Parts: sequence; structure tokens; C-alpha cells
Amino acid sequence: GAPVKADISKLEPGQQMIVEWRGKPVWIVRRTEETLKNIEKLNDSVRDPNSEEPQQPAYVTGINRSIKPEILVLVGICTHLGCSPKYRPEISPADLGEDWLGGFFCPCHGSRFDLSGRVLKGVPAPINLEVPPHSYLSDNVIIVG
Ligand code: FES
Repeated sequence: GAPVKADISKLEPGQQMIVEWRGKPVWIVRRTEETLKNIEKLNDSVRDPNSEEPQQPAYVTGINRSIKPEILVLVGICTHLGCSPKYRPEISPADLGEDWLGGFFCPCHGSRFDLSGRVLKGVPAPINLEVPPHSYLSDNVIIVG
């Protein structure tokens, strides 16, 4: 599959956009300051906080799992059995509970991921969502692949 270009110039803080790469959905989210703080708060609630298992390129490190802190790029496929999780950035919504600080929820079997794509403890998905290879062509153009 060829690399795919994504223009993020119109992506507002808190928004998600989806591009297709190799037949897979790739999510791009512009995270807010608040989101980045909440990711830190979840370090003890996720299975692999620093993504030490190989679900990402080597240049993506730390709890934010991104090149630029605010821009998250993930393959939108659940690491359990391949459903597509939903983007649920809101805090403590009634259906997801008090503890929910924003993330991705998989409706198939209830797996939960934070806004770095890190899998929360106690759900069926075994590993974090995958970060695809990507780079910046310019400030507002990402190349996936
Ligand atoms: Fe997502 Fe099973 S496929 S929880």
C-alpha cells in the first residue's frame, strides 16, 4: 500500500479525523491540554503505560505515543478481535462511568483505551492500539505509511 497524506489544518482541538491506509482506518486526533493531563493520570490504570510492547514505531515514545504531543495517530482497529472502537472524548459519560477520562471504547466486547490508545486494565484487548508509521511533510500535513 502507498503512503497516504492527511491535511490536519482544519482539525480542531478535541476533534478526530479518519483516513484510510492499506484498507485500514487511521485516526488522527488533535488532543487538548486537558486530554494530555488526563493521559498522565491514567498511567496506573493502563496495562503498558510506556508501550514497551511493539505496537508503534521506535520514534514514538513515552505516554503520549506521538511525534508532537497534541497529535495522536492510531490504527483504528481493536487489538482484541478487530472491531473499530468509538472515539469517546467526553469525561465521565453516564454509559462509560465516573472513571472515564476520554478515550476509545470498543462496542464489541467492551475494551477500553485511553486517548493515547493505551489499553486499560481488565478488558479483553491484550495490547495497546497500534501507532502506524508516520511523519510530517509540513506542520499540517502528515504522511501515514
Ligand atoms: Fe474490541 Fe473485542 S473486538 S473488544
